[in-house]
Formats: sequence, C-alpha cells, structure tokens
Amino acid sequence: MYRSQRLVLCHFWAAFVAFVPAICLGVFQMVARSPWLEVRDPKMYYSSVTAHGSFFGYMFPTFVAMGFGYAACANALAQRIIGQRFAWLGFAMAVIGSLAALIPDLLGKSATLYTFYLPLIGNTWYYVGLILVIFGSWVWVAVMLANLTVWKIRHRTAPVPLAMFASCAGALLWFWTSLGVTIELLSSVIPYVLGWTTTLDAGLARILFSMTLHGIVYFWLIPSYVAFYTLVPKEADSRLYSDTMGRIAFILFLVFSMPVGMHHIFGDPEVAGGPKFMHALFTALVAVPTFLTVFSICASLEIGGRLRGGKGLFGWIGALPWDRPMILACGLSLIMLGLGGVGGLINMSYGLDATVHNTQWVTAHFHLIYGGAIVIMYFAIAYELWPHLTGKPLFSVQLARWQLWLWFIGLMVTTLPWHIVGLMGQPRRMAFYDYHNPAIAPQAPLVELASVGGFIILVSAVLLVINLFATHLQPRAELEPRVRFALAVNPSVRVPKVLNGFAFWNALLLILVVVNYGLPLSQLLFFKQHTTPAFQIGGTEYKDK
Ligand code: HEM
Repeated sequence: MYRSQRLVLCHFWAAFVAFVPAICLGVFQMVARSPWLEVRDPKMYYSSVTAHGSFFGYMFPTFVAMGFGYAACANALAQRIIGQRFAWLGFAMAVIGSLAALIPDLLGKSATLYTFYLPLIGNTWYYVGLILVIFGSWVWVAVMLANLTVWKIRHRTAPVPLAMFASCAGALLWFWTSLGVTIELLSSVIPYVLGWTTTLDAGLARILFSMTLHGIVYFWLIPSYVAFYTLVPKEADSRLYSDTMGRIAFILFLVFSMPVGMHHIFGDPEVAGGPKFMHALFTALVAVPTFLTVFSICASLEIGGRLRGGKGLFGWIGALPWDRPMILACGLSLIMLGLGGVGGLINMSYGLDATVHNTQWVTAHFHLIYGGAIVIMYFAIAYELWPHLTGKPLFSVQLARWQLWLWFIGLMVTTLPWHIVGLMGQPRRMAFYDYHNPAIAPQAPLVELASVGGFIILVSAVLLVINLFATHLQPRAELEPRVRFALAVNPSVRVPKVLNGFAFWNALLLILVVVNYGLPLSQLLFFKQHTTPAFQIGGTEYKDK
C-alpha cells in the first residue's frame, strides 16, 4: 500500500477504539428512556447523548473518511502519499481535538448535545476540541487535493481513478459544509466563552449550523458509496456498470448536499417560507444521486450474478457470493437504505415534516440510515482493507458475517419500533418518560423492544473489534499488498474535463449556497434582532455578562 499502512490503520483504530464505548452510551440512553430503568438524571442523560452524538457526528465518520481516503489515494493512484507528515499532523490534531471535546462532556461539564444550539453554552474545551477536529480534517482535505493535483500533472489526459475522484469529492464536500459550523464557532461561540463578546445570536447560529447539518450526513455516507462503486462490483466478480454515472453521482452529492440544510429547521421562526421552499426543492434533487447509485450498484451486481450463472428475472441475486462480507454488507445496506430513504422523503416534505419534526421518528430515521446503511459499509471496508494493512489474513470471515447479520437485525429491532413511538408523538431529546401516564404507556413495549435491539447491536460491535484486533495477532501471509478497485464495464480512456475535476462544481456550489442562504443570512446579519443572553450548562439561570 505504498507505505501508507500505518497511517490508514491509525485512522481506523482512532474510529474503532471508542466505537464500543459509544455504542454502550447509546444502549444506556435507550434503556434510560425505557420502563426498565427510570434514570431521572437529565445531566447524566444529556452528557451521554452529547458524547454519543459528538463521537458519531464529528469523530467516528471523520477518522473513517480520512483513513479510507488515504487508502484510496495510495492504491488508486498507485503512488506514495505526498505530504505524509502533514497527514500525521492532521491526524494528531483530530485525536487531540476529540479528547479535548469528549473529556469535559463525559465529566458532565458540557451537555449541550452535538448540535450545541445556542443559547446553551458548554465548556470551552468542548468547542476548542471540535475546532481542532475540523482543522485536522482540513489538513486531510489539503493532502488529498495536493495528491490529486500532482497525479493529474503527471497523467495529463488520463481519467482520475473513480475511487480517488469520489474520495476527493467527499473531502471537498466536507470542507465546504464544515464551514458553517466553523464560522458559528469562530464568530460567535468561542468569542463568547473567551469573554470577548457578551451576547449571542441564536437564530444566526442555527442557520450557520444548518449549512453543516445536512452536508455532514452526505460526508458520512461518501466512504460507503465509494465502496459501493469501487469495491462491491469487484467482490461480486463483476465490473462497475458505468464509471461516468459514478462520477456524476459524486458530483451531484458535492453540489447539492449543502444548499439544503434548512430542511432541518423547517420549524424555525427566524427563516421565511420562501427560502424553506427552496431548500425543500433542492432536497429532492439531492435524492437523485442516491437513486443513480442504487441503480448502478444493482446493475453491477446483476452482471456479476449472471456471470456466476444466475438465470431468470431474479436468479442472479441467489448466484451472488453472499459469503463475502462486502457483498453481504452491500445487500443489507441497500435494504436499510431503502427503508430509511422512504423516511427521508417524508422528512423532506414540508407539510409531513411538521408531524415528525423533533420526535423520535427523526432519531430513528438517522440511526437506520447512518447507523445502519452507512456504518455497515464501514465494517465491510475495514474487513476488505485489514489484510492489506496488516499483511495478515482476516481472523474470521465467518465471524464477520455473523457480526454483519447481528448489526442488521439489531438495527431493525431498534429503529422500526423507534419510528413508531415517534409517530405516536414521543419527543426526541427527553431524558425520561413517565410510563405511568396512560397517554404514554402504550409506547413502553416499543421502547423495550428497541432496547433489546440495542443489546444486539452492542454484541455486534464487540464482535467487530474482536475480529479486527485478532487479525493483528495472526501469522503473516503472502497477501496482495495493494487494494484493487473495480474496473468499469467500459473503462473510460478519456473523460470530459468537468467529470475529471472540481473547479466548475465548486463554483456552482458557491452560487447555489449564495442563492439558498443569501437572503436568510443577510436578514439576520444586517437586521440585528436575535441577540440573547447565554444559558451556561450546569447553570440554573440565564447569565448576562
Ligand atoms: C453506529 C451507530 C450509531 C450512531 C451513528 C448513532 C448516532 C447518534 C447521534 C448522532 C445521536 C444524537 C442525536 C441528538 O443529539 O439528538 C444519537 C442519539 C441517540 N442514540 Fe445513537 N447512534 C448509534 C447507535 C446507537 C445505539 C446502538 C443505540 C441504542 C439502541 C442508540 C441510541 C440513541 C439514543 C437513545 C439517542 C438519544 C435520543 C434522544 O434523546 O432524542 N444509538 N445517536
């Protein structure tokens, strides 16, 4: 792997080392909300949700994206990563930032939730930590783009390999979308906690954060989609249906993921209906690359299944190599993506969203799509890379299959009843519920069922870490050092300039952000009307400085 093994391994272990504890927090939160364990300690509950949400929101996916990005960079470009020293610096910043953010929170000093909506104010180190994680990941963005640029100079007319093209689209998407939260932190939150300012603009902060809030979920999914396009066809003994369609899908994610963020704040009074309508409209557009992806991957799988002897309308499905973790994970992921996608169409519909906004339906939805469809592919990526990274065969492919199946079953048992209690009106972010109240009592068995699912997920998480760790203890073997990515049915010899670079798409993205955010932002920037005093976490009253 062009001597990038240690760099890639460290990023994945930074993600997985805290994975099981983070899942434990999730299970605690679920049980704390169930009739089984009436934990009436909001501070403990919200500290747990903040740590769980911050880890899964900012740290876990970032380390995975950075690690897989470097693996794609080295293997797809077949070159040693340029700027490895900077890559290590970025890694160190992200690790230190993660600790700086999580420790005060786990000590109960910063239970703001991972969205840290103002006027709630937490511990200074939580915010400084988040900034360090973001800046560390921006170093990764710079290293990826530098490697892309050098490769393109050396290979003037050649198409950039899809794995690298897609990973760079993900890196750029993260840079642009993380600007929202970074501007909020640097212009409002950090000056306030350092005592340089005395008031906070909660409305402006929410709009800035919404710039990150939706783009970030596509940043979470990009590594999984890169695996869909570049690893799944290969593992199915097939080829990718269309390289061009793959490029177009990642470009659409880059361009449309950010100017849609306000669909997360449809209920907010500080934004007018017009901009909300625009964001709803663009949210429909950002569903297109997912449809393209589902079509491309199913077509690639069909080719593989038929090459393996599958006959008839659906015979190719049974002929696929389901014993291979990548194929099994892909199949289970597409089922969860389908179910979660339907939920997403409901959430993006302005009228319907009013029914589910701020209920447990929303939490169930993103656990199904993110925790389920996306994270299960992170596992498959790890199982694919580990032998190349360690030079040792995976400890157990059988254990990997069990782990994937348990993850899927666990997510189903947890999130399906969770959706239902949301429709029954259960609000999200409540530390406890009184199931003695007859109006709420019917929700109790569903939360109990979801808790059972949580324990299944926990077992699955432990199996993952055991399998990866035990692989390091295996004897070395003669293994192919380089990760091979799928070829397309018709490999591109030449691609149009716009499908081989990002300058045009970055410009289009900026124009769309100005169009969709210009009015609400300028309203709040130039007509000052939303300043509020802060509410310090752990405080009992509003504090005016
Ligand atoms: C990879 C898997 C997971 C991911 C990515 C994930 C992600 C998240 C995120 C981002 C939040 C923050 C939501 C907020 O601030 O409102 C959250 C909250 C929560 N998670 Fe998870 N989670 C995962 C696994 C689990 C598991 C296994 C359980 C337990 C069954 C769980 C239960 C919860 C609960 C109960 C909340 C708080 C809900 C509320 O109070 O509204 N999570 N999760």
